[in-house]
Amino acid sequence: MADGVPVVTIDGPSGSGKGTVTQRVAAALGWRALDSGALYRLVGHAVAESGIGFDNEREISKIALSLNVEFNDGSVVLDGTDVTDRIRTETAGNNASKVAAMPGVRAALLDWQRGYARPPGLVADGRDMGTTVFPAAGVKIFLTASAAERAQRRYKQLKEKGLPANLAALTAEIEERDARDRQRAASPLVPAADAVEIDSTALSIDAVVEQVLRLARRAYPDRA
Ligand code: C5P
Repeated sequence: MADGVPVVTIDGPSGSGKGTVTQRVAAALGWRALDSGALYRLVGHAVAESGIGFDNEREISKIALSLNVEFNDGSVVLDGTDVTDRIRTETAGNNASKVAAMPGVRAALLDWQRGYARPPGLVADGRDMGTTVFPAAGVKIFLTASAAERAQRRYKQLKEKGLPANLAALTAEIEERDARDRQRAASPLVPAADAVEIDSTALSIDAVVEQVLRLARRAYPDRA
């Protein structure tokens, strides 16, 4: 991390609301936002497209090192193709979680992620932002919600987009992905020792955003 750059990390399982909270907190502070999950989703997508098996860590790590990606105004372009929607599917999330268990892939993405810590500040969303990528961050949040609530939120999102959704299948997928993220040896999903845990099951997004902003302003009174 660039010395002295304020960093807020927001880690937690899928569907806990960290993506939305990260974007809102970054906008309120005028800082950059890093959606680290998108990088793992991009690697998973590139692997699926390449035909390389999901067990070939050597080749997959090479793909992670040489991704040709552009982020423009909310859209994600991989090798000239807009993949914004394609990397958001449940399949893409599952493929991301498979490649994310590989130490070679995590190492390939480390410097790239740290490069996002530039003035005036960064809000970083992921699984290991506070434990591995930005261990010196001034504010670390671990955002959770019950698996049932997270599946319900995802169900609602899909329905709103007019996409097919099955609550039981979503719950099973969320639980499977959580288990893989928590049990892997490389950067498992665990709260940093100095993280503040927030359970969003019964909280509104506004309430969570307010709480994170309060912590950011306390940690960085001159910058936030
Ligand atoms: O956050 P999102 O659901 O987009 O992340 C997709 C997957 O990428 C996660 O299930 C997890 O396996 C992986 N990931 C990770 N470390 C991060 C961010 C995401 O392992 N910092």
